[in-house]
Amino acid sequence: MCGIIGYVGKRDAAEILINGLSQLEYRGYDSAGLVTLSTDGLHIRRAVGRVRQLQQLVTEKPVPGTIGVAHTRWATHGRPSEMNAHPHLDAQGRIAIVHNGIIENHATIREFLEQQGIEFQSETDTESLAQLIGFLYSQTGDLLGSVRRALHDVQGTFGLVVVSLDAPQTLIAARRGSPLIVGIGDGEYVISSDASAIITHTSQVAYLDDNEIVTIDPSGMHVATIDAMPVDKRVHTLEMRLEQIELAGYEHHMLKEIFEQPETLQNAMRGRLNLRTNEVVLAGLQQLERDLPRCRRVLLFGCGTAWHAALVGEYLIEELARIPTDVDYASELRYRNPIVEEGTLAIAISQSGETADTLAALREVKTKGATALGVVNVVGSTIAREAQAGVYLHVGPEIGVASTKAFTAQVAVLSMLAVYLGRRRHLSNERTESMLRELEQIPAKVRAALGVHDQVRDLARQLAEWDNWLYLGRGVNYPLALEGALKLKEISYIHAEGLPAAEMKHGPIAMIDPGMPVVVIAPRDNTYGKILSNIEEVRSREGRVFAIATEPDRELERLCEEVVYVPATSAMLSPLVTSVPLQLLAYETAIVRGHDVDKPRNLAKSVTVE
Ligand code: AGP
Repeated sequence: MCGIIGYVGKRDAAEILINGLSQLEYRGYDSAGLVTLSTDGLHIRRAVGRVRQLQQLVTEKPVPGTIGVAHTRWATHGRPSEMNAHPHLDAQGRIAIVHNGIIENHATIREFLEQQGIEFQSETDTESLAQLIGFLYSQTGDLLGSVRRALHDVQGTFGLVVVSLDAPQTLIAARRGSPLIVGIGDGEYVISSDASAIITHTSQVAYLDDNEIVTIDPSGMHVATIDAMPVDKRVHTLEMRLEQIELAGYEHHMLKEIFEQPETLQNAMRGRLNLRTNEVVLAGLQQLERDLPRCRRVLLFGCGTAWHAALVGEYLIEELARIPTDVDYASELRYRNPIVEEGTLAIAISQSGETADTLAALREVKTKGATALGVVNVVGSTIAREAQAGVYLHVGPEIGVASTKAFTAQVAVLSMLAVYLGRRRHLSNERTESMLRELEQIPAKVRAALGVHDQVRDLARQLAEWDNWLYLGRGVNYPLALEGALKLKEISYIHAEGLPAAEMKHGPIAMIDPGMPVVVIAPRDNTYGKILSNIEEVRSREGRVFAIATEPDRELERLCEEVVYVPATSAMLSPLVTSVPLQLLAYETAIVRGHDVDKPRNLAKSVTVE
């Protein structure tokens, strides 16, 4: 989704801004723009398409100055066009802003300002905020006061940076519902919506909280609330390393992240499996250690892939901890007036920790009295900070828009959480030990599963021409069918549906014909016999079946056009291993179709609007 980078210091701003925008490209966008300030005035460039198109404009016509802001836009109000790209200006052309989020009352503000004779240049909601700040400033001559007042008047969400010709060494930034991080360098500041654009310059950062406003000027950085109450900001050290956001020889971030999984799973479990005492150690939950086992119900929520991980979590927690568990889409939960009884443990799952619906759902269940945890990857993200306690994934930055390593780490964390809760309730010593031993072996099994890459690449070449695919799974692998289908849709733009295998005959079986590949996840578990029957049903209708299985089986090979084998593990943990061929199949199919895997059309890495 939209990205922001701002700079003030002694260096050439344009280069820093363009490089920063390149680091933000993975978030998804359709146009980009920047503004720098110099004694000659504001220098604005805007382009539809990629950052390299903007860079081309800047090369042809350089923009001088040591202060500026830049933006990648993911269109919400108004089509992707040069005029709609940020920055947006006030009527005098002296104030420029870049903005993430949505100004919900933009139409009312626009109507009011048009009545005052102000002419709008774009179709965006953001311009109403730029014009409002300019209008207030024209009446008071107080820039900071005008930003404050405007932010009081707008409804909606914002991560916002303002520059003005009348304060040529000052950046003003504010946030409500859309993240902003200030990087503190040596005599310079970099402000961004995403730490990956800051890490090249400094690891010292301050996270803005909702309704805070920061002014950066030659006297330093000053943070206050929008109501002008001073805030003492803590400075944090980013844990991210530069090499984590580089390609390291891989063609795409997605492929790199798929292949990182043995290591990221190891990191997600490091120090958390204690085979000596036979327990799971989750330091982030220590403060709630007494209360958690007493919970009566678990409520898991998230969006997209995180929701699929939650579905796996439901099977795990019910089976291992015997606690009734519900799963909801965060976007549905927040508006459903959810029933939160005493003893509800609510768990928000999010890679970015910034997904608008997941954050809103977290706030809703907290208000209703749930104990609210976060299972989050990005350290210091809003969900991580607002949850009462939580467990980090520790997989490093996930740049690929199609989530892979975060998904397997979410499943690993939920597996550990299930054992953690189970051990404090009914889980036997023996079962705990066997789960811990199995978990310990998962990184090595995932490494072995990556060995199917060549086979899956060949399979993708056979299958890529088909426009409709079906994925089937049962039990804990039913969410994997959903996840496999989502991965394929996201980067190949092929229509795919995931189903619990037995549901197929209640309707979708009507679609089976030789033109629709059916990918079946069939590990050897207690439903194996049933899934063989489901495969027979597909075969009887001339369907073409491709299976992912764990143990060589003649019968399965007879029924399927191809079987991809991955190492066997405990049934409850099999999604950690069966995900690998599904991820590779989506990746290789997208490559055959010639798509840019890391920049899939219309998608944003972090969805910070509802
Ligand atoms: C997955 O591949 C996605 N691109 C998307 O579904 C994602 O999982 C979802 O938007 C939730 O994001 P989060 O984990 O950052 O909250």
